[in-house]
Amino acid sequence: MCGIVGILNKKEDAIKMALDGLSSLEYRGYDSAGIAYQKDESIITVKTKGRVQKLKEKIDKNEKSLLAIAHTRWATHGEANDRNAHPHTIGDITIVHNGIIENEQELKEELKKYYTFQSDTDTEVACAFLDFYYQKTNSMIDTITKFMDTIKGSYAILILCKKEPDTIYAIKKDSPLIIAINEESKLIASDVPAILKYSKNYYVLEDMEWAKITKNDISFYQKSKKIEKEINTFEGSNLSSDKGCYPHYMLKEMMEEKESLEKTILPYLTNLDLLTDVSKYKKIEIVACGSAYHAGLIGKYLLEEKANIETHVELASEYRYKHLFLDSDSLVIFISQSGETADTLAALKKVKKQGIKTLGIINVKESSIARYVDDVLYTEAGCEIAVATTKAYVTQVALLSLLALKAAKKKKLLKEEEVKKILEEFYQLPRQVNDLLQEKESSKKIARMLTKEKDIFYLGRGLDSYVMMEGSLKLKEITYLHSECYSAGELKHGSISLIEKGSKIFIGATTELNDKTISNAKEVIARGGEIILITNDDTLLQKERKERILIPITSSFVSPILEVIPLQMIAYYLGCYLKRDIDKPRNLAKSVTVE
Ligand code: G6P
Repeated sequence: MCGIVGILNKKEDAIKMALDGLSSLEYRGYDSAGIAYQKDESIITVKTKGRVQKLKEKIDKNEKSLLAIAHTRWATHGEANDRNAHPHTIGDITIVHNGIIENEQELKEELKKYYTFQSDTDTEVACAFLDFYYQKTNSMIDTITKFMDTIKGSYAILILCKKEPDTIYAIKKDSPLIIAINEESKLIASDVPAILKYSKNYYVLEDMEWAKITKNDISFYQKSKKIEKEINTFEGSNLSSDKGCYPHYMLKEMMEEKESLEKTILPYLTNLDLLTDVSKYKKIEIVACGSAYHAGLIGKYLLEEKANIETHVELASEYRYKHLFLDSDSLVIFISQSGETADTLAALKKVKKQGIKTLGIINVKESSIARYVDDVLYTEAGCEIAVATTKAYVTQVALLSLLALKAAKKKKLLKEEEVKKILEEFYQLPRQVNDLLQEKESSKKIARMLTKEKDIFYLGRGLDSYVMMEGSLKLKEITYLHSECYSAGELKHGSISLIEKGSKIFIGATTELNDKTISNAKEVIARGGEIILITNDDTLLQKERKERILIPITSSFVSPILEVIPLQMIAYYLGCYLKRDIDKPRNLAKSVTVE
């Protein structure tokens, strides 16, 4: 989603640095890009619909500046075009903005009396608001305080004021913003990759905080009060955004699943005590979006079936507005790769207000959610660039599964030998995942078979249905084909009407409910459906199935991770055959920082 970079430099290469920073944020997903830089007494703005490369081509290579702010926009208010792209300028103020201004309409009505708006964006309204109060007060402190008191919604904004050269103002509420420093530069960004090349030392702005950044100084404020802030050092690893020898990040990241799993689970396999103990809670709620939500469903199954803990999984976008039934015996787990998803973050803030214990399962260490939860477990998947998550998802499932295993052990619901056997399965898991990843030909064959399809179905029961939901989402995300996942037993209650001769149906059958799933499979076969079976039992549907992928026989603690690998691969190869934009599929964003 939208990305922000701001540079204040001692050397005159702020434009190049800002554009490079934008390139490293491209993975977030966006549809237009722009930059504003200081030149003599003026501020020059260049913007365009489309990719950062197109923006680079629009800027004279010899152009030099000490100061630049730049932006990649993912359209919310108004279509993606040059006019709506950021930066926006009104009067003396130029801004770039991530987030959504919720009271934009009422503010616009008022500000229309003084300004003519050129775009359809809420950002231009924010810009007019800032200019209006700046002209009135001639003070940026008063203007920003007024802004924070009045504006509803979320924002990370960089502000340039024509009357205050060599200065960037950075303000923040509910949308991340960090400020990094080195001897030569001050770098402001919405996300770590944009600054990592230049510095590992950075400040994090919290909600309602802002900074005045000049060449020689940074001062921090909380509304009108001056504050001191501590500097952080980035300690993450494997943040290389290099595609290496792979044609796509998605393929590279799938191939890193073995290593990501090893890094995530090995410390706990040798010492389960290092893992959070969830056995003491009577009720667990898991809150997440997208694939993280699907991982949560698997967690629910294992926590309920194996550790006997009542568990609910909720979509963060719904949870943040619903009545919560929580008490001191409840734990709420927040799962997020980015740690910045706006709905998940809002849900976390709501739960924290009620004083309920929270645990995060997070990939990005410096993220807002990782900082706000009471306790955090990190998925060690490293930097994930492709919009469609793969390696982060499998590590999320692995951690949830280990949490359930530890709780079951603690509650003595599993015998010592059983725990030992399951731990042994976890030790084997990374290698087995790697073996499945090497079976490229069977995934390619199935993908080729699907190139002419318009609708693709996924069926399963229990755990299998949760894995199939993720398979269906992966397919939708990167192939743009219509796909649905149904609980196999529910099919007869409506959705079976969609099945016709030649319909392609993925069926997951890896659990003790296989017999039931196979009965449902026969119902679709009887209506002309063609089955692609993902199973650990090769005897199933031997005559009837069109294709099958065999995964190793394991307990349900690790089987979902094995089962999803071929589904990720098939979606990937089908996306390639259909010539889709694999790493940056249309309309999607990696980090969804608006509601
Ligand atoms: C976006 C991504 C998905 C991801 C979801 C939740 O939609 O494209 O891959 O599952 O956000 O993101 P999070 O960072 O909270 O896991």
